[in-house]
Amino acid sequence: MTDLKRLYNTDRVRAAAKRTLPAVLFDYVDGDAEDGRTRRANRDAFGRWNLRQQVPTSAGVNADLSVEVVGRTLDLPIIVAPCGMAALMHPDGPIGANRAAHAKGTLAVLSTVAGTKPGDLAAVVDDPGWFQLYAPKGREQAEELIGEAADHRFGGLVITTDTAVLGRRERDMAHGVIMPMNLTAPVAAKLAVEFLSKPGWVARTVSHQLRQRRATQSGAKGMSPFDMAASPVTWDDIAWIRELWDGPLLIKGLVDPEDARRARDAGAEAVVVSNHGGRQLDGAPASLDALVDVVDAVGGDIDVIVDGGIRRGTDVLKALSLGACAVQIGRPWLFGLAVGGQAGVEHVLSLFKRELINALTLLDVTAVRDLDRSNVLPAPTPA
Ligand code: FNR
Repeated sequence: MTDLKRLYNTDRVRAAAKRTLPAVLFDYVDGDAEDGRTRRANRDAFGRWNLRQQVPTSAGVNADLSVEVVGRTLDLPIIVAPCGMAALMHPDGPIGANRAAHAKGTLAVLSTVAGTKPGDLAAVVDDPGWFQLYAPKGREQAEELIGEAADHRFGGLVITTDTAVLGRRERDMAHGVIMPMNLTAPVAAKLAVEFLSKPGWVARTVSHQLRQRRATQSGAKGMSPFDMAASPVTWDDIAWIRELWDGPLLIKGLVDPEDARRARDAGAEAVVVSNHGGRQLDGAPASLDALVDVVDAVGGDIDVIVDGGIRRGTDVLKALSLGACAVQIGRPWLFGLAVGGQAGVEHVLSLFKRELINALTLLDVTAVRDLDRSNVLPAPTPA
């Protein structure tokens, strides 16, 4: 058992996950598209902003981390992003992630390809959170999944728009995992060797998966999660979905202010500025850079959430100062799940929370809702 206390930042959680997971799975989560420029750009963008440190006006104020997102109050402005194959990280899977988010005052988004069906999750948790839709087989499949999400009380529908084709993930290719999913005998043999080098993960997760003997995703018989994730969505589809879904609609995977305006005009309650963690178009702008333009375009009208490269509480503060109403994290929670199941995801959220409170205090800000652009300063560029 990993001692979570020793994992005092998200980098250490990542390193522990690397020790825990078979290489093929670690690389699937950690990897990116082509040369990884956008993934690195996501991190680098946070370095271009400094925080405005200020002398405190009073001592010992209780930090208020609550925010409003599409009409709902979250006590922590950090949402657990939709991620495929979470069920393979640990037997706690997406249900554990959902419970961790709930325990920490926030919510989780269930991916269509997370490995747990919306109904199975909703049956055992207090609050199913939001549902993220992939429907590669078209509108019939989309309608079925949206109906399932509505029947099971999901409070928001997230439409991911940046996966019309799947990014070229070269670390997956190096393992022989190619799309469409094609498990040839040599690849299976190589993966078996990798799996056997992580007996702890095999004992926990493989045996759990075999016991479950369930379809690993909804409405997609005969398709692997990789194949499911290549799911084109057009503006026409979004207009059609808007008619079908009464609750909050969030459009994820845009970085262009013009797209943000179209999403607003199509009736979305929020946009999620995201380049899929640098896993799709290599060369797409860094999320934090795109955030500024998107907030200028639609920030007064609809909610703006951002994800990509958020690893520190100070990153969250910068994103909120630049106009995001909340952020999402992807890889950090998957690594937390791999290392410690539900407790691992709670641990990751607690790390963010502790760092957030620390930094807020040093900014002399009490409530994250009060953050604005005056709390950040462009970092001087080196001469
Ligand atoms: C993802 N992401 C993603 N997004 C989505 O809408 N549906 C999905 O099924 C997945 N699957 C997925 C799997 C894995 C392994 C990762 C790492 C990411 C993207 C995710 O929601 C989010 O946009 C990014 O992960 C955010 O970047 P960071 O925090 O990982 O840097």
